[in-house]
Amino acid sequence: MLIYGKEVAAKTLEKIMAMTADFESKYSRKPTLAVIIVGEDPASQTYVRNKINGCKQVGFNSLSYEYPDGTAQEEIENRIKSLAKDETVDGILVQLPLPKGYDEEKILSNIPDSKDVDGFNASNIGCLCLGRPRTVSCTPLGVMSMLESTGVDLNGKNAVVLGRSNTVGKPMAMLLLNANCTVTVCHSKTRNLADFTKNADILIVAIGKPKFVTADMIKEGAIVIDVGINRVDGKLCGDVDFESVEPKTSFISPVPGGVGPMTISMLLYNTLMSAIARENER
Ligand code: GUN
Repeated sequence: MLIYGKEVAAKTLEKIMAMTADFESKYSRKPTLAVIIVGEDPASQTYVRNKINGCKQVGFNSLSYEYPDGTAQEEIENRIKSLAKDETVDGILVQLPLPKGYDEEKILSNIPDSKDVDGFNASNIGCLCLGRPRTVSCTPLGVMSMLESTGVDLNGKNAVVLGRSNTVGKPMAMLLLNANCTVTVCHSKTRNLADFTKNADILIVAIGKPKFVTADMIKEGAIVIDVGINRVDGKLCGDVDFESVEPKTSFISPVPGGVGPMTISMLLYNTLMSAIARENER
């Protein structure tokens, strides 16, 4: 069976829209997301455009700051510092990856916890690791919501995560661990990768290599979530060789139409939660 992120996301978006209308009537303002992009990477530009469109769709304000590659690190940090102080801004997002030469960690460290809607800063990651999540990264959160939509009990399942990025692999592993899965994280230095993946009841793939995961690596009846978005000969494909893998799975997410739409709905959810929390703290 296919897990269409678009359908799961649509339900979340409906809830967000209703809650946003309540928020606006209660506080006489809209939740506001500020998005910063540096450089001209076309994929990043598309993601940012989709995020801004998502804001419009659910009734948020959005602010967009576009800097050419080569802009001084300090200028970007100063922008974040001013957005951090701005009472009307609920969330600050810096689209990653930044072009070469920027100190990503230092830039992100200027985003206060209360506005870190990507859940990338050290204290939000720390809380997730301690099993008391606050703001959680959007893509892994979206994957959990897709897994939930299958109705399958996650307790005690063998979950294998391919990829160990700070944005997907690591928080993904923590969420699955918090959901009582037995979690293995594999990466580019893992030996005999298929020995691990063939034992996976749940396989999450986030490595950025087109069609890397093939049918011989899959356990019969597995749930496979493909986080990869690759462009090959002008067409989008995931990290999983969908045609060969799909028949062996109980559930699989397609690319496109799988994880992508979930990431945006979770970002909007995190922004709304941040707006509500900030109003409650006033
Ligand atoms: N680049 C790839 N995924 C993400 C994400 O979830 N947030 C940000 N800010 N950048 C990304």
